[in-house]
Amino acid sequence: MKISVIGCGYLGAVHAAAMASLGHEVVGVDVDADKVAALTSGRPPFFEPGLSELLVKGQELGSLEFTTDVSRVADSQIHFVCVGTPQKPGEFAADVTYVDAAVDSLVPHLTSTSVVVGKSTVPVGTAERLAVALVPTGAALMWNPEFLREGHAVEDTLHPNRLVYGVADGEAGEQATAGLDEVYATMLDEQTPRMVTDFATAELVKTAANSFLATKISFINAMAELCEASGADVTQLADAIGIDDRIGRKFLNAGLGFGGGCLPKDIRAFMARAGELGADQAVAFLKEIDSINMRRRVRMVDIARDTLDGSFIGKKITVLGAAFKPNSDDVRDSPALAVARLIATQGGVVTVTDPQAIDNAAMTFPELNYVADTSQALADADAVLLLTEWQEYRDLDPVATASLVAGKVLIDGRNVLTPEVWRSAGWTYRALGRP
Ligand code: UDX
Repeated sequence: MKISVIGCGYLGAVHAAAMASLGHEVVGVDVDADKVAALTSGRPPFFEPGLSELLVKGQELGSLEFTTDVSRVADSQIHFVCVGTPQKPGEFAADVTYVDAAVDSLVPHLTSTSVVVGKSTVPVGTAERLAVALVPTGAALMWNPEFLREGHAVEDTLHPNRLVYGVADGEAGEQATAGLDEVYATMLDEQTPRMVTDFATAELVKTAANSFLATKISFINAMAELCEASGADVTQLADAIGIDDRIGRKFLNAGLGFGGGCLPKDIRAFMARAGELGADQAVAFLKEIDSINMRRRVRMVDIARDTLDGSFIGKKITVLGAAFKPNSDDVRDSPALAVARLIATQGGVVTVTDPQAIDNAAMTFPELNYVADTSQALADADAVLLLTEWQEYRDLDPVATASLVAGKVLIDGRNVLTPEVWRSAGWTYRALGRP
């Protein structure tokens, strides 16, 4: 199939490269010339395991092209819209202007056999509105939400755990379904579950899934608050309740909470959209989910300050991790950086390190100190805060680390270290939700 992908960020670049690796002819379009140049030369503009190999494979096959020129989509039958829908400044609602602009830019190139496939996460009702805008072109619209996790994006794109097609009734829906079935033939051969729904349901599947995941994380973090109040251990609590497969152990890791470009803004956009629809009570609980999540950052700072006898002034704090989660260089709404900034504003001398995200972090918060090398970052620290659980931080040796720092204080913001091991090496070990 000849395919275009509009928007080559975390979602679109991976989608374009993955579709080319499946044998399709793909043109990826982005307004950012630097990003296009990087992708064209096989260099991913962000860290995503496996993407580089896919880009090289696509170039070798001659089936993957990146451009800033949207007219290059003219030969494509299927057009994927993969642009961002960030939170509007000063509001909870999502900004859908990039989606609207992407669809507008496609319109002159569409025919009655074209299919436009929205993958961006949008407020429910967006697809219905865009379908009306496409009527004069004769093209069909479909909403096909994407569930990929950063850090696993290649695997999740090539082997998704489900496919959801939101389509219009009648012929347009059939045309869109047939087109996408052809694009995703290898996945359908692997028996990937595929559900065909109306537009609104498909849009809500994505928002509901992310709301559920956020709720699960904030639930266990609320339990962590109770554990702190009562002297219990949230990691044991999570293990014990997670054995019940109605609950499940996944997404029950208590700690600093969720961040990134999806969960925080998606639950806020959901609240905003529910309000517009007169259904705000239905998701009012998400406000509490958000509050629990944001409280964890403040609690982390409180624990660190408390451990340092009540003040950060003049103390050297090393923050391990800047990305919002491991295996990513994405710092959007990073809990680790939020904590680092709070400590800096309270007088701490903060050094941040991360295996991949330092450049992005420095662009976002230039006021913090960044050191790439872990040992150098740890040198003379009065306290070490593990805030993003990269494997290399999980593997730190307490004895070797002790020889680098000034004060053996470790605060585990992700509950990934074994307290006894660190304590027996002479460290003061503290964590969220653990005695
Ligand atoms: C998420 C969804 O998982 C994905 O399906 C959707 O398409 C986009 O949003 P992503 O943002 O890449 O993906 O990250 P995810 O792995 O879901 O983690 C989100 C955040 O929750 C991270 O900050 C992570 O550290 C945190 N988290 C996750 C926890 O705090 N505890 C957990 O148990 C799991």
